[in-house]
Amino acid sequence: MEIISRIIYSAGLLCVTYALYQVAVFLTIYLRPSRLHHYHHGSQPWACITGASDGIGLGIAQELASHNFNLILHGRNFSKLSAVKSSIQEQHPSVSILIFIFDTKECKTIQSSTFPDLIKNLNLTILVNNVGLGHETLSAEDVDAQINTNLRFATQLTHYTLPILKSCSPSLILTMGSTTAIGMPWLSVYAGAKAYLRTWSRSLGMQMRGEGFRDVEFLTLDIVEVSTLGNILEESFLRPNARKWATAALRQVGHGRRYVHGYWVHALQRGVVNWMPDGAQDMVILPEVATRRKLWGKSK
Ligand SMILES: NC(=O)c1ccc[n+]([C@@H]2O[C@H](COP(=O)([O-])OP(=O)(O)OC[C@H]3O[C@@H](n4cnc5c(N)ncnc54)[C@H](OP(=O)(O)O)[C@@H]3O)[C@@H](O)[C@H]2O)c1
Repeated sequence: MEIISRIIYSAGLLCVTYALYQVAVFLTIYLRPSRLHHYHHGSQPWACITGASDGIGLGIAQELASHNFNLILHGRNFSKLSAVKSSIQEQHPSVSILIFIFDTKECKTIQSSTFPDLIKNLNLTILVNNVGLGHETLSAEDVDAQINTNLRFATQLTHYTLPILKSCSPSLILTMGSTTAIGMPWLSVYAGAKAYLRTWSRSLGMQMRGEGFRDVEFLTLDIVEVSTLGNILEESFLRPNARKWATAALRQVGHGRRYVHGYWVHALQRGVVNWMPDGAQDMVILPEVATRRKLWGKSK
């Protein structure tokens, strides 16, 4: 009898130790100070943010400008980007800003765009692969637009820019992930693209380490929900606005991780989902996405 109670006691102790360890890891991740300054070096450091005219990209651009990074703002709408440029410059007059127009839905090469000329001789230390397109896939054009925007563009842009980022290291390549990567009904192309991005970014991060470029950081920032034009649901505790998310997420850079949730509440949400068996995940995800489809449908 005594031996059984000893086993139960030891198992309980192990569980409590493991739980305390997990709490300590969580607190370390979300309470440690920002290391963004690690990438602010040399004269005039630059950051390029894709999909910077709105939402999370705009939030990241504003946050980087507040840390004195010069910006290359990518988007498809020149007048919208010009307005963003003026508003950021009004708040941060010392920051230089360039605009890079490229419609990611089309399958063009980076070499034939204005990008090579734009970044010539710049001390580019940050690339943010933010632009993303996620909606229900209806036609062959939709499939191509989502593949081109979510993975072809990020892949081509990063591969073009990587030699420059290596020569300007310490440097950082941030990629926007999504919780949909676990599998999401009605968003299959988008969800699959996000799973690709996470594996691709991690692979390149490991490759940099293998090639001796330990100061070229690849980090995927995972997101559950942020209130933006791309996700029109109202801001809440679980769904912060883009600027609030960007401020929290940029604290995660420079700590040697390959993948992290940008916002601590999302990490807790995801922790609960990960803990559930597949069948139980389906039971939660299916009705949730079905409800959202109705809301998205009404917003069109
Ligand atoms: N918001 C969320 O809840 C959420 C959740 C998970 C992951 N994410 C990821 O976070 C990233 C940003 O999402 P978001 O919600 O901020 O998106 P958003 O509000 O829809 O903004 C997207 C940005 O990308 C630009 N863009 C869209 N299509 C483009 C195209 N064909 N060519 C060039 N630029 C284009 C938009 O430009 P215009 O201003 O011209 O439209 C805008 O600047 C995405 O990768 C998304 O997958 C978001």
